[in-house]
Amino acid sequence: MSVRIEKIAAGELKAKPAGENLGFGVHFTDYMLVMSYRAETGWAEPVIKKYGDFSLDPAAMALHYGQAIFEGLKAYRGKDGRIYLFRPTDNLRRMNDSAARMCMPPMPADEVLAAMKQLVALERDWVPGIDGASLYIRPTMIATEAALGVRPAREYLFFVILSPVGAYYPEGFNPVKIYVTDNYVRAVKGGVGNVKTAGNYAASIMAALEAQGKGYTQVLWLDAIERRYVEEIGTSNIFFLINGELVTPALSGSILPGITRDSVIKLARAWGIKVIERPIAIDEVIAALEGGALQEIFASGTAAVISPVGALNYKDREYPVNGEMTGPLAQRLFDELQGIQYGEGQDDFGWRVPIE
Ligand SMILES: Cc1ncc(COP(=O)(O)O)c(C=O)c1O
Repeated sequence: MSVRIEKIAAGELKAKPAGENLGFGVHFTDYMLVMSYRAETGWAEPVIKKYGDFSLDPAAMALHYGQAIFEGLKAYRGKDGRIYLFRPTDNLRRMNDSAARMCMPPMPADEVLAAMKQLVALERDWVPGIDGASLYIRPTMIATEAALGVRPAREYLFFVILSPVGAYYPEGFNPVKIYVTDNYVRAVKGGVGNVKTAGNYAASIMAALEAQGKGYTQVLWLDAIERRYVEEIGTSNIFFLINGELVTPALSGSILPGITRDSVIKLARAWGIKVIERPIAIDEVIAALEGGALQEIFASGTAAVISPVGALNYKDREYPVNGEMTGPLAQRLFDELQGIQYGEGQDDFGWRVPIE
């Protein structure tokens, strides 16, 4: 599968935003990758073209029945000047898992990776050179067939857009305060919580707003049936360091199998730390906090890499974690992962993929 590139005239290129105030997901680059699908003919040739509006029929099925999936990964400007992706094959594999669950067609992952690398290479000047900043990559697939009726669409659009993003922690690596909700749930086993489909995020907004209104950064979700077992924090996975052992909820079917989660597990095990994937009840967490056995809590995800938790609010009581300080394991994981991502540290697992 070859990629067609429709070049833009130099005069039409956008001015690049200043590196210091990139924010997250507010600026978009000059080009995007687009590939369409029809049931009769399969995927068409991928095209790299000028970033811009789509023309969609108001009956496009994604708008009505929610066949919409996406991924999120980053390109990093290495200290050696090369541009690196982090575990992109895992994102594309997860996207095809999402596609399967949502009855959408799988995309040809190898060809898409090659096209995505071409897109990032073309946009290499958009990859920020500032510490902690990166180029966020958003592959997306939506149902475009114009029809009403709940069934798999027969036409889709796959596209990749790029957004330069600033350091997640411009003022340093600071612990966040988390609100445990037992009022709302994110996902239930047998549902779609283990894939990256748009509706999961729409459903989470109300709980996030309520938590923010109470002064908390994010929500910690509990399982949908007993509202007892810890699942995820916002759009990241969660880890607990209890008596020197790292515990994280098992992939039970209702949480997203995070790529950062998998990286944390592999790194911690390589460092000789015992990592246990099992159900963990919120009462066990609170008891471990009260008894002093709980040393650290942190979240893992592409956006922030590692996010230390400084306090948990459960049933209107706030429990400080590790004196509201970043713990040594969270710091070590953050440094190690960023080192690999920016092309400095040893990449023993082969996670770093140069784009050219
Ligand atoms: C619901 C949810 N959980 C966890 C994660 C973390 O996954 P990853 O480490 O692959 O970014 C994400 C982000 O993709 C997410 O949206």
